[in-house]
Amino acid sequence: SYELSLRPQNLKQYIGQEKVKSNLEVFIEAAKIREETLDHVLLYGPPGLGKTTLAAIIANEMGVNLRTTSGPAIERPGDLAAILSALQPGDVLFIDEIHRLPRTVEEVLYPAMEDFCLDIVIGKGPSARSVRIDLPPFTLVGATTRAGSLSAPLRDRFGVLSRLEYYTVEQLKQIVIRTAEILDTDIAGEAADEIARRSRGTPRIANRLLRRVRDFAQVKGDGFVTVALADHALELMQVDRLGLDHIDHKLLKGIIERFRGGPVGLDTISATIGEESHTIEDVYEPYLLQIGFLQRTPRGRIATHLVYEHFNIEVPSQ
Ligand code: ADE
Repeated sequence: SYELSLRPQNLKQYIGQEKVKSNLEVFIEAAKIREETLDHVLLYGPPGLGKTTLAAIIANEMGVNLRTTSGPAIERPGDLAAILSALQPGDVLFIDEIHRLPRTVEEVLYPAMEDFCLDIVIGKGPSARSVRIDLPPFTLVGATTRAGSLSAPLRDRFGVLSRLEYYTVEQLKQIVIRTAEILDTDIAGEAADEIARRSRGTPRIANRLLRRVRDFAQVKGDGFVTVALADHALELMQVDRLGLDHIDHKLLKGIIERFRGGPVGLDTISATIGEESHTIEDVYEPYLLQIGFLQRTPRGRIATHLVYEHFNIEVPSQ
């Protein structure tokens, strides 16, 4: 599809995540030399950094099929059994949001990961018996925004654990230029740089902003993306100089205006600004922590002096 064709197809095309990439390169090569199935891989980190893309690349580099599903989509053990028994030897099964797998399903997954078999209980009560079914060997690629909420037994069954990091502005700029080429869009270097600086370290955001800026260039200009056009479009989309959007603003201003900069608990912030606490924790907070705007303490979140400076608000005295 259009969306998928933007994604890099192999490790060579993939920009950034150098550590994750060079490790995977070795593990993939070694598995291929030994003609074995690649060990199970857990990818974790904030959303939009390329977990799904990497799962597809792993399957592609191994020369096997990719089957994609997600934690919440697998409701019962039977759902998982159906998916696993349909795999071909060596296939990659990608489970997104794997921390949201129901407990009962997780327990079926353990022997599947460890011994490539399923223990199925047939019947009920005293006549119930357990049957063991062999599975083709496969590679599970799990993705999660919160490695901490995986149960220890599940986490321990992954042979490779890779944490994805926020991208640098330079890496995002390369991604924007690459995507612009695929979209057949001409873009000035400074415009690509500006989009990169305002993408919160996240390729998914960079590519989304590029598409919208390109719309403006096509309708309001001659199609060429200049830095002035990019600036104008980003302003209209309420993306500020640091890439913070309207929800980041609500969150940060809420903490400084209503709680004198904190500390304030996550659930209180959530109730105040009307955003789910999970969304705040998984999507908004990680970047604000990374750039030093927020601190997490046992007593709650604190807005640092950088937030006051960013909004041009005086830091309150003690
Ligand atoms: N598009 C989105 N993420 C990318 C990445 N990491 N490398 C190249 N193109 C991308």
